[in-house]
Amino acid sequence: MIILRWDWVFWAVGVVVAFALMSQWWWQPRLPVWMQRAAKGGPWGWYLFGYPVTVVRMVATWRRLCTTADLTVVRRPRYTMIGKDQMVRGTSVRPLPPRLGLPMVTATGLTVRVHLHPGQTPKQFIMNAEVFTHGWRVHSVRVLSVRRGEVLIIATARNPLADSSAWGRFPAPRLLAAVVGRTEDGSPWVFDFRSVPHWLIAGATQSGKSTLLASLVTELGAQPVALVAIDCKGGMELGLFGRRLSALATSREEAVPLLSGILSELQDRMAACRSAGVRSVWDLPEHERPVPIVVIVDEVAELYLSGGSLLGRKDAVECSTLLLRIGQLGAALGVHLVIAAQRFGSELGPGATALRAQLAGRVCHRVNDEMTAEMVLGDLSPDAVVVAQTITETEKGVAVTTVGGAWMRARSSLVSPADARRWAEHNSGRTPVLPGLSRAMTSGGDTA
Ligand SMILES: Nc1ncnc2c1ncn2[C@@H]1O[C@H](COP(=O)(O)OP(=O)(O)OP(=O)(O)O)[C@@H](O)[C@H]1O
Ligand SMILES: [Mg+2]
Repeated sequence: MIILRWDWVFWAVGVVVAFALMSQWWWQPRLPVWMQRAAKGGPWGWYLFGYPVTVVRMVATWRRLCTTADLTVVRRPRYTMIGKDQMVRGTSVRPLPPRLGLPMVTATGLTVRVHLHPGQTPKQFIMNAEVFTHGWRVHSVRVLSVRRGEVLIIATARNPLADSSAWGRFPAPRLLAAVVGRTEDGSPWVFDFRSVPHWLIAGATQSGKSTLLASLVTELGAQPVALVAIDCKGGMELGLFGRRLSALATSREEAVPLLSGILSELQDRMAACRSAGVRSVWDLPEHERPVPIVVIVDEVAELYLSGGSLLGRKDAVECSTLLLRIGQLGAALGVHLVIAAQRFGSELGPGATALRAQLAGRVCHRVNDEMTAEMVLGDLSPDAVVVAQTITETEKGVAVTTVGGAWMRARSSLVSPADARRWAEHNSGRTPVLPGLSRAMTSGGDTA
């Protein structure tokens, strides 16, 4: 009778896996084409080959990587007494790495929990994410602090943001939520204005700000939402959405009356809420609820910089005050801001810093200096500042965004000018008419 010994089975499997890994250079090129394709990419390739190989690599290198990155602890004290009056100092030859949990497979990589030793902090692991990326030969590693005494490591096998032109569309989850692209774990990248009312989109020139705005407008364009645009580059970018926009200002002179019109619309909504005894437009009965308005500003610096003239300075101050008031009042009244800027800090005046504090949603594309990343992400997630600076010039449309206190890399869907025009035309019938805004623009902001 043959007796099955589990320790033999375990060793046999171990030897086979080790042999397969070592001889990978020989057998992989000899596989049939479909298997080679699966081994290189595609979800099945990851489930069948990539995941088991990465787990073996992870387990095999865990102690070594933790030791290299100084993420281990020692059980024995550094000093030991010899005899009665001699003390020796030394380094433990077998330091203990933290305990690695069970690696869980996902469509784009894997996640694994790490149980920290007393005295260890998540920051040490976050700073050493690169060590694991290289050690496990994956595309990227993100470390999140999810529970006390534990970190979650999210390893992404391939770059899911590589080709934004071939992405299909995800359906919008609800009113005022727009799927603008994909996040690094392959899930939809959502701007949800009901949970995060105002957004700041920053980045150097040609980093992808206007394309992200185009993706946002295209998505919101299919919903019963009024889109109001301010594009001081003469309307070159947002003007493409012409007939789907309820109002468009292409210069600061036009922006002042437009913003004044939005402010008086806010005051009307406030009065409606007060008389109905509710605290937000969302508490009004559906038939009385005013249409949500999303105000999109491309290159906001054009509104703030006065150019030296007295009239220009007056307009700049007015724009700054109006935007700030809209930011402060808008969330509960269904009026939302999306501001795109190359930089958005105190150099634009004190109003800019105050407005930035209102913009809880942050997106930072490639930046040219640390200061800009710090301005956009520093107050929400210091780790994200470092990651934003790693975005390269070739990664157009890639950005770091903050989601519920954590950060995430994401990429917008590519919307070409032709697509933008086609979509705007297709959805032009949905454009809500806001007579107050048109009146304000024709009367130069004198809405009283
Ligand atoms: N998600 C994306 N995928 C692929 N290419 C993109 C993406 N986003 C932007 N690009 C490309 O990058 C280039 C610059 O994009 P965009 O005009 O949006 O940048 P910008 O930040 O608005 O620049 P500027 O500050 O000069 O207005 C465009 O040619 C666009 O096609
Ligand atoms: Mg632009």
